Amino acid sequence: MKILEDIKVLDFTHVWFGPYCTMMLAGLGADVITVEPPWGNIGRLGPGELYKGTSSSFMALNCGKKGIAIDMKKPEGIALVKELVKESDIVVQNFATGAMERLGLGYEELKKIKPDIIYAALSGFGQYGPYSKYGSYAAVAEAISGHTYATGKGIDIDHPPVAMAGAQGDIGPGVFAAFSIVAAIRHRDKTGKGQMIDVNQVDTMVSFNACETVAYDLFKESPIARRKRRGRPPSELWGIVKVKDGWVQIAGSRPKAVEEMKARLGVEEVTLDFVKEKLSTMTRKEAFEWLVGFDVPSAPIYEAYEGFDDPHLKARKTFVEVPHPVAGTYRIPKFPAEFSETPGEIKTGAIVLGQHTEEVLREVLKKTPKQIEELEQNGVVTIWRP
Ligand SMILES: CC(C)(COP(=O)(O)OP(=O)(O)OC[C@H]1O[C@@H](n2cnc3c(N)ncnc32)[C@H](O)[C@@H]1OP(=O)(O)O)[C@@H](O)C(=O)NCCC(=O)NCCS
Repeated sequence: MKILEDIKVLDFTHVWFGPYCTMMLAGLGADVITVEPPWGNIGRLGPGELYKGTSSSFMALNCGKKGIAIDMKKPEGIALVKELVKESDIVVQNFATGAMERLGLGYEELKKIKPDIIYAALSGFGQYGPYSKYGSYAAVAEAISGHTYATGKGIDIDHPPVAMAGAQGDIGPGVFAAFSIVAAIRHRDKTGKGQMIDVNQVDTMVSFNACETVAYDLFKESPIARRKRRGRPPSELWGIVKVKDGWVQIAGSRPKAVEEMKARLGVEEVTLDFVKEKLSTMTRKEAFEWLVGFDVPSAPIYEAYEGFDDPHLKARKTFVEVPHPVAGTYRIPKFPAEFSETPGEIKTGAIVLGQHTEEVLREVLKKTPKQIEELEQNGVVTIWRP
């Protein structure tokens, strides 16, 4: 049994934030149909190098879904989409605010067609407020929420701001969007009512930076300036340490680990410099084993692909192989939480443009072969053929 197996998601998401959200819903078993323009959505172009015409990020973020290519600038395309809405529980989109309303596909319109629809509008700055019309990518939300500033200061207290890696301003809000949708399903199941959800990158990233804003409010001083004034105590085992073949991360604020080190190494004091000295002749693997031998929270610093060969990740089957019509197979991270009763699973690789157009028109909308042919000939839909 899959926890969302009876849930149908009509997915208009096009780049990172939205596609990650709907991939998580697919991982929980929801039937996700992604609607793309016949020319492909912008996520296919990047970021990430193009693999046989499609960006590697699209290949990573659009797994476990079905794909249909419909031109929504044509009235017949909008009519098809409205038919699909009637068959759906959830609508998700991450266009700039107003784009769906201009197409006649805003919440108020869709509610008339499907009164209990749950409509998640994902955006940069939210559906209202002075900045709400502005387009946004992850880096925008990371900057305005304080993460970019703090990331630079994390390198060195005098360092200029540094953009976070890995589009955290998409992935975090994407998870928050999926979480909110699941909560709205619970409400609908109890009351029969749908609702509109305004999930945006900025509010979410601000929420992720709560420790810094709360610290400011409590001390009435910038927490980073405060850190600069105070410095880190030399006994705090925290930081990135160079070893023979790379670096390790020590995150060891754990007094009992320090006590263990003192006792076993026969020293009165353990400082970060002392540990650095010890680690300087070791490899990442040796350093990691040495540190965890004292229960110091730590890790080798990998480039992401190195996780493929890590014994722990291998044992937990953290990467799974998925089939793809063009690539054959490739590995993606598994659905990251393990449920004892309702396991999550992402079974297929990214959708090829128009891969399931015919199947969805035939099976969901009960279109005849002649109707499908006409839609294709009129350029309303495109159909992928291997
Ligand atoms: C990411 C973003 C900046 C990209 O901007 P963009 O490429 O100019 O796209 P927009 O969202 O403004 O608009 C999408 C357009 O595609 C059109 N479109 C979408 N699906 C379509 C389809 N199936 N057929 C025809 N047209 C389609 C829309 O109608 C809209 O056209 P319009 O500008 O004429 O109204 C913007 O979508 C955005 O800010 N989104 C919210 C924040 C977010 O999620 N960012 C992504 C994080 S990586």
